[in-house]
Amino acid sequence: MSKAETGRLAAHVKGISKSFGDGGARLQVLKEIELEVRRGDITMLVGPSGCGKTTLISIIAGTLKADAGELQVLGQDLRKMSTAEITRFRAQHIGFIFQSFNLIPTLSCVENVSVPLLIQGVSASKAEKRAKEVLDQVGLGERTKHRPSQLSGGQQQRVAIARALVHEPELIICDEPTAALDAKNGHVVMELFEHVARGKDRAVLIVTHDNRIFHHANRIANMDDGRVVEIHDVDADNPPPEHLKHVERL
Ligand SMILES: Nc1ncnc2c1ncn2[C@@H]1O[C@H](COP(=O)(O)OP(=O)(O)OP(=O)(O)O)[C@@H](O)[C@H]1O
Ligand SMILES: [Mg+2]
Repeated sequence: MSKAETGRLAAHVKGISKSFGDGGARLQVLKEIELEVRRGDITMLVGPSGCGKTTLISIIAGTLKADAGELQVLGQDLRKMSTAEITRFRAQHIGFIFQSFNLIPTLSCVENVSVPLLIQGVSASKAEKRAKEVLDQVGLGERTKHRPSQLSGGQQQRVAIARALVHEPELIICDEPTAALDAKNGHVVMELFEHVARGKDRAVLIVTHDNRIFHHANRIANMDDGRVVEIHDVDADNPPPEHLKHVERL
């Protein structure tokens, strides 16, 4: 691959392996994973429960360290960075949506969404203004003062999405972002991701079981038992294959 092509990649995963536990209880969860996440694309990661999807995206986001292999994220070699450097890099350049939302229960919606901006030193009033804009985009403009416990699961998920987008990160990584959303809100969120990925040459990496959203993907990577076993590039002539629509649900 040429240098120019490498620059187009938001993430380049080469031979990444990861195990949990020791001795007899040791479990190899990722087995020499290969994956390219291109800028301008929505890449979806699918596969049965327990195959290693969350583990892989946690490594790409820098919240978990791999045992072996190489990893370039937005042109940086994460293995050469200290934990503090990775934390700063993530806060600036990556938007991460956790499978379990991870909203701060004592903060209102607008305060939760403001957090990534406040970390970057944006003033409280500017952060709040921008947070309200993004909450409006996900259809929660009327709920800015509510706490997470006062919201439905789908509303909490949209707050988590707003928080991941608020600082316009170059790489957005989401674990099941539409699992708690109805068709209408799922569509709104996917349109937002498309706008983010295509309009500004960023990249979106989504773990999903939700075959309602597969047609939004440019590329689908199918994982099984710690390996990427198939890559499918999606376009008008190449719709998502039927067998990927039957991935095991939780
Ligand atoms: N911190 C950990 N300690 C020990 N085992 C772990 C840990 N995290 C994950 N695992 C194991 O690694 C395997 C892969 O987990 P992972 O969460 O990556 O799966 P997944 O593909 O995201 O599944 P799901 O679709 O259910 O979310 C599972 O067998 C899980 O039990
Ligand atoms: Mg998972």
